[in-house]
Amino acid sequence: MEIGRRDYYSLSTTINPARLNQTLAGLGRIGETPQGMARLAFSPADVAGRKYVIALMQQAGLAVSIDPAGNIIGRREGADPALPAIALGSHTDTVPQGGKYDGALGVLGAIEALQTLADAGRALNHPVEVLVFTNEEGTRYHRWLFGSRAMAGLLEPEDLSAVDDEGVPLGERLEAIGGDPGHIEEARRPPGDLAAYLELHIEQGPVLHQCGIPIGVVTGITGRAVYQVDIQGTPNHAGTTPMSHRHDALAAAARLVLEVQRLAGELEICRVATVGTLHVQPGAVNVVPGQVSLGVEFRDVDMACLEGAEASFRRFALETASADRVKIDIHRLEATPSVPIPAHMQELAAQAAATSGLETLRLPSGAGHDAQAMAVIAPAAMIFVPSVGGISHSPQEFSTPQDCANGAQVLLDLLLLADDKL
Ligand code: GLV
Ligand code: MN
Ligand code: MN
Repeated sequence: MEIGRRDYYSLSTTINPARLNQTLAGLGRIGETPQGMARLAFSPADVAGRKYVIALMQQAGLAVSIDPAGNIIGRREGADPALPAIALGSHTDTVPQGGKYDGALGVLGAIEALQTLADAGRALNHPVEVLVFTNEEGTRYHRWLFGSRAMAGLLEPEDLSAVDDEGVPLGERLEAIGGDPGHIEEARRPPGDLAAYLELHIEQGPVLHQCGIPIGVVTGITGRAVYQVDIQGTPNHAGTTPMSHRHDALAAAARLVLEVQRLAGELEICRVATVGTLHVQPGAVNVVPGQVSLGVEFRDVDMACLEGAEASFRRFALETASADRVKIDIHRLEATPSVPIPAHMQELAAQAAATSGLETLRLPSGAGHDAQAMAVIAPAAMIFVPSVGGISHSPQEFSTPQDCANGAQVLLDLLLLADDKL
């Protein structure tokens, strides 16, 4: 497999595509189920995945530690001890029924880049850290970017008091993976502590694959607002309760689901809007549903659009509550601001791709990433590679071995440029 057209004068060395794709396959076997990947944060499979990447980091000569937020840090010292470290990172946890590339490519691409430097005996001026962030997906506590927000000083009280769906408090889970909930503040890195944060990721959308362009340079990362919507009706006998007497929580929920779709679709108030979870109680076919909870999210890079979507949704919920004679409570669980990627970091990423003669496209990210937290404390850059068919958060998620190798090479070249220029 060839990595683009190497520039004769390049400062770079070439990553090993076969080794990268072997480690992707190796991590992809950990937590694999017939329904897709199941490395939910803090699960036994997640812990096994973490062990797998720690071993790879050690092989690459990195000194491995775990910070109080459970983030894995693999560090290589630089020639100039006065310089701040350049960080490369992503996550190894997955959503339920997830894919093998989301997060994994960024971590394994970073380790491949550092293994390549170690093999070549190549020293850099800056120290380098590979960061594997805890619970990026937020599946476990319904609060995402946990590790990167801890590092960026963006945790909220709700993060620390969170209890998961199995009733286990976060502190207990953190301790089990080597974190230290009592000293979580010490995971925080002040602005200036890192010279840059560089993340390789699959696009998770269709644009690069459709355009046939191998590398995306990310211009900004979407904002997101997440809500829990509780609808309280009255459970009652499905055979004896006349239609005119019902307080059917699920009928009201159905109207809300379609409205969420309409807000982003027909009305274009925000870019995308989704109802991803729905719990019905008591959940029997012969009982009028008495209680429904929905998980709703809105995403847009323009935060004003998110506010507009919330306001419209609240108005519609009021009307629905009255028409369906139910009670509707909307709790905002999270609001993550969108983040622009600085122009000089985009430029550096584009130059890194040019080193291998790889064409680039600038595009915003519709998915959330650890980079959006890390951008608060360090200049951040993100590189995307194509997702075949634009599919992600699915067992069908796939990026070709060539595209993965291209991404890791560009990440290495970006690291070398950052070492030289920052
Ligand atoms: C993170 O994976 C997200 O949901 O965007
Ligand atoms: Mn991801
Ligand atoms: Mn994801």
